[in-house]
Amino acid sequence: MKTSKVLRKTAIRIWQAAILCFTCTAIFPLPASAANDAPAVVLSDGWRFAEQDGESLYRASCQGCHMAQGEGASGAGHFPALAGNPRLAGAAYPVYNVLHGRHGMPSFGKYMSDEQVAEVVNYTRTHLGNHYSDAVTAADVKKLR
Ligand code: HEC
Repeated sequence: MKTSKVLRKTAIRIWQAAILCFTCTAIFPLPASAANDAPAVVLSDGWRFAEQDGESLYRASCQGCHMAQGEGASGAGHFPALAGNPRLAGAAYPVYNVLHGRHGMPSFGKYMSDEQVAEVVNYTRTHLGNHYSDAVTAADVKKLR
């Protein structure tokens, strides 16, 4: 085979590989975190959080957006700090947000029991620099569903 023919064939192969790569990334986009986007939470109906205690629930369901120490984040979106946030002074406010969501925040009501919502809210209000000692109960959560 002549060198020019080999070169042309190689160029075609590279071009085909490039097109294949492009098609693959278009069909299978990188996960949101890898793309440095806002963290996405996609939960199927009927799916429930397995974690039962407040800290584990916080790690599994809130930390992705509000960060490990509740410091919040800004960038692709704005995720308010829960650390030292005076809006957590009234327990009903975070309970309502967790149950029903709020603008860019997804709702967790379908994916957590009343006990789990109470646990994660109590954790958030007594940790991350917050010191609100009036704990919410599962019965309080039920009223806000
Ligand atoms: C997918 C990202 C995301 C997750 C996960 C998430 N939040 Fe949020 N949260 C937000 C955004 C965005 C806002 C701001 C909504 C607005 O007012 O525009 C917010 C607002 C809040 C607020 C109100 C803060 C304020 O200053 O008004 C509370 C309380 C809160 N979140 C608690 C939680 C708790 C507890 C969890 C876990 C059960 C959680 N969030 C999970 C994105 C998220």
